[in-house]
Amino acid sequence: MTTQTLSAGAARGPDAAQAKHADQVRVWDPLVRIFHWVLVGAFATAFIVEDDRLGVHVWAGYLVLALIALRLVWGVIGTRHARFSDFVRGPGQVLTYLRQSLRLEAPRHLGHNPLGGAMVVALLALVSITGLTGMALYGAQELSGPLAGLMSGMPPAVGGALEESHEVLANLTLVFILAHVAGVLFSSFAHRENLIGSMFSGRKRRSSREA
Ligand code: HEM
Repeated sequence: MTTQTLSAGAARGPDAAQAKHADQVRVWDPLVRIFHWVLVGAFATAFIVEDDRLGVHVWAGYLVLALIALRLVWGVIGTRHARFSDFVRGPGQVLTYLRQSLRLEAPRHLGHNPLGGAMVVALLALVSITGLTGMALYGAQELSGPLAGLMSGMPPAVGGALEESHEVLANLTLVFILAHVAGVLFSSFAHRENLIGSMFSGRKRRSSREA
């Protein structure tokens, strides 16, 4: 056991909390954390209720789109690790990180790692396109929603194509979400840290070696 662990373990009450927080750094700001968990809830609601309760499905979809719009702005003006410039990397770096991960040699990152960053971009894009096709479909078939005026004169085949696309995209998004959660669990295991807990607390273990 290291000296650091001993001193943190021996401390009691406020001292223990202080020792624990001294080893941690704030990574995810409140907006990122609230965005993430509300997005999880809104997407799950829209996915589960489908069109059995169309009103709920549609409002959950609007919430998803509003969250994405907010996150896109925050990705430009937000805190350090929320910014796209902090985690969006080219295909070369993403593939290198994937290779390193498979060899269990990937370096730890405080923000999103290059592969995680690519997954974040893919999820934001998929969730957005799924929501937008849903909004267009709602306009074409129900003559309701913000796109009703634009979609009202469309031939029925357009509605059919939109319905098919919306469903395929929602299922594809689910596949990516499962891969995202698998990646989070893999990375948590590889670096001996609780990334899910960090998405709640906003904090991660400080280390002098990460990128
Ligand atoms: C219960 C299931 C989920 C868990 C446990 C989970 C966990 C996480 C964690 C730990 C991170 C931070 C990764 C890191 O440390 O680099 C993250 C980021 C992210 N997740 Fe999830 N996630 C879940 C479901 C979802 C779903 C359903 C979506 C999309 C619909 C999603 C979209 C995202 C996005 C966009 C980010 C980036 C956050 C940001 O930078 O704003 N996640 N997730």
